[in-house]
Amino acid sequence: MNAKYKALWLNDNDNLEVIDQTKLPFSYETKELVTTDEVVNAIKDMTVRGAGVIGSVAAFGIYMAAKEVKGDYEALLHKASLIRDSRPTAVNLMWAVDRMMLRLKDAKDLIAKAREEAVLLNDEEAQESQKIAKYGCEIIEDILKEKNKTRINILTHCNAGWLAVIDEGTALAPIYEAHKRGIDVHVWVDETRPRNQGASLTAWELTQSGIKHTIIADNTGGHLMQHGMVDMVITGADRISANGDVANKIGTYLKALAAFDNQVPFYVAIPASTFDHEIRDGVKEIPIETRSADEVKYMRGVDKKGVLHEVLITPAQSPALNYGFDVTPSRLVTGLITNKGVCKADYQSIKEKFNSDGE
Ligand code: MRU
Repeated sequence: MNAKYKALWLNDNDNLEVIDQTKLPFSYETKELVTTDEVVNAIKDMTVRGAGVIGSVAAFGIYMAAKEVKGDYEALLHKASLIRDSRPTAVNLMWAVDRMMLRLKDAKDLIAKAREEAVLLNDEEAQESQKIAKYGCEIIEDILKEKNKTRINILTHCNAGWLAVIDEGTALAPIYEAHKRGIDVHVWVDETRPRNQGASLTAWELTQSGIKHTIIADNTGGHLMQHGMVDMVITGADRISANGDVANKIGTYLKALAAFDNQVPFYVAIPASTFDHEIRDGVKEIPIETRSADEVKYMRGVDKKGVLHEVLITPAQSPALNYGFDVTPSRLVTGLITNKGVCKADYQSIKEKFNSDGE
């Protein structure tokens, strides 16, 4: 069984190793996560982030925890709840922990089974990402044909590439596929304040793959759309309600409004694990993470000598508020690019594609 994915893998000690995303784009460093505390902290402090990847890390985290408690299921239940509670919005995290614990319930050899199930879950996620790439790329090709153009300009928000979902990402998966097929693709990359996942992570990923891109301040998208400079928007998601409301990185809703006003297609790319079939009204019911005000008040970056600094950019006394996500109502979403094909963002279409258990 394979246990090597782009953003995380089992290392030679059979421990979980991840790319430390807090260090990108300035340095590439990895971290070994052995204990449950290390896994929980890595999710909380966003060493690893992105809806799919925190689910993937959680699955391997259960394997690490199973070794830590020497195969005791009752003790593992407690460790699992700590991992499950490490961040509130991306449902992939809860989904991964629940699936793991359900399948480990009657395991004879808990440790071996935990490893097997974590690998299986991650292999499935990687396969779903490939399917999203294919279905999303077909939409890109259709738009180019319809507009009789050779270059496509795609706007994306935050990071939903391979750092966020193994192994090709979600929003970026169709873009990678288009690039592979020789399509001239250019990406408008929202910087994504306050943590700048777009400017630091999406731009870094696209640079690695040689894909044309331009980083824009978060408020630029509406202007670009008014001037015909955006052919489509693709974002990822952290949780989608049964009626197709989309929780994604804060600021996504404003992009969807601007896209709607300018008749720019707005697509959301997701694997099955991002659906929350229990929730009907996403705006009212999806829990939104609030993070430290310091993420708004301080910026990180390197000086001309490459030394990393964190600097205050506001009056020291001014309070700040930091919601991590917002919810885009389904009526603003053109379509969902899923591992089972493209569907409308509404209750009936989602139900027809996915059973309530998400299988
Ligand atoms: O806070 P983050 O960086 O973990 O946020 C998750 C995201 O990266 C985005 O919301 C993304 O668009 C969806 S994750 C596939």
